[in-house]
Amino acid sequence: MKTIIVTGGAGFIGSAVIRHLIENSDYHVVNFDKLTYAGNLESLVSVADHPRYHFEKGDICDHRQVKNAFIEFKPCAVMHLAAESHVDRSIDGPAEFINTNIVGTSVLLEVARQYAKELEQSHGFRFHHVSTDEVYGTLGETGLFHEQSPYQPNSPYSASKASSDHLVRAWHETYGLPVVITNCSNNYGPYQFPEKLIPLMILNALAGEPLPVYGKGDQVRDWLYVDDHARALCLVMEQGSLGETYNIGGHNEMMNLDVVNTLCRLLDAKAPQHPNSVTKYEELISFVTDRPGHDQRYAIDAGKIKRALGWEPQETFQTGLAKTIDWYLDNQPWCDHVRDGSYQGERLGLVVGD
Ligand SMILES: NC(=O)c1ccc[n+]([C@@H]2O[C@H](COP(=O)([O-])OP(=O)(O)OC[C@H]3O[C@@H](n4cnc5c(N)ncnc54)[C@H](O)[C@@H]3O)[C@@H](O)[C@H]2O)c1
Repeated sequence: MKTIIVTGGAGFIGSAVIRHLIENSDYHVVNFDKLTYAGNLESLVSVADHPRYHFEKGDICDHRQVKNAFIEFKPCAVMHLAAESHVDRSIDGPAEFINTNIVGTSVLLEVARQYAKELEQSHGFRFHHVSTDEVYGTLGETGLFHEQSPYQPNSPYSASKASSDHLVRAWHETYGLPVVITNCSNNYGPYQFPEKLIPLMILNALAGEPLPVYGKGDQVRDWLYVDDHARALCLVMEQGSLGETYNIGGHNEMMNLDVVNTLCRLLDAKAPQHPNSVTKYEELISFVTDRPGHDQRYAIDAGKIKRALGWEPQETFQTGLAKTIDWYLDNQPWCDHVRDGSYQGERLGLVVGD
């Protein structure tokens, strides 16, 4: 019996990883999650009763809880996704990001180091750290981020993720901890908390509320469908070379405004009963003051993971976005529930997050 601990498994990407592992492998999967505002066990109803799935409520910053989980479940791998993940929140309150993303990662690394030391020759144990392309900062009009790009994080979020990447690398170089690291672009798809760009726009449009677009909407992002990402993560976790980093991208570079316009056109066709007497959803677009320190462009060279592990994204932006919109249209109760009691900070709903 081989067990993987997934931290942050109740979040958007973590839940996709767990669904993928349960449906496509023989691993036992332990979801270790604190259930912050972003964690939602309703995203895992399809696997909740599966005999190879187990939920363990826990905080990665709590050494005792993390250690107990390692002792009890004896994982062959940890896939570390738990994090504070929203850039706007990091601008309003960086402390939680420093605590969860940096201190929490260091706690996990220390427990994993001790655990791996006690196993004979590590027994193939692996620590997979999941990170973001935002650690590389911003690009000009041309060029791509690759695995050797210098780290130049610009937001408290990306700085905290960059710090955690450095810790993981250092635990490999100094202590020989068997690690792999992935840095991916913007994910989208079902079960994403509606503070991030795409679900925020879908739900605001359906409610007839403004669609807030930062600045001129000319920032460029690469969009990665979450199930493509989950597949890539599982490949790297199993087959990635130790000590290596793999960038993961969707080959879908788009300006934010083009994303919102595309989404509005798809919604015009899929949800033609427009609210508040608008005739097209794009009439709801409203330009708002730009986010401080907003990176202009991200784009990923995902050639290494293709060459080394044969991974490529399967969804185009059009197919992935159509699936995503269909999911939000079909899952209104999930949306209503996660929005209940959600964050009421001054930025949410006024601004657009990645
Ligand atoms: N969403 C993206 O587009 C994107 C892009 C690049 C990288 N990433 C990275 O991927 C990972 C997952 O992102 P996501 O979008 O699924 O995040 P998310 O915000 O949807 O979920 C984060 C999960 O972590 C849990 N969590 C937070 N603090 C915790 C703690 N102290 N202990 C245990 N659990 C805790 C939350 O309860 C939640 O379930 C993060 O590390 C993020 O930095 C995300």
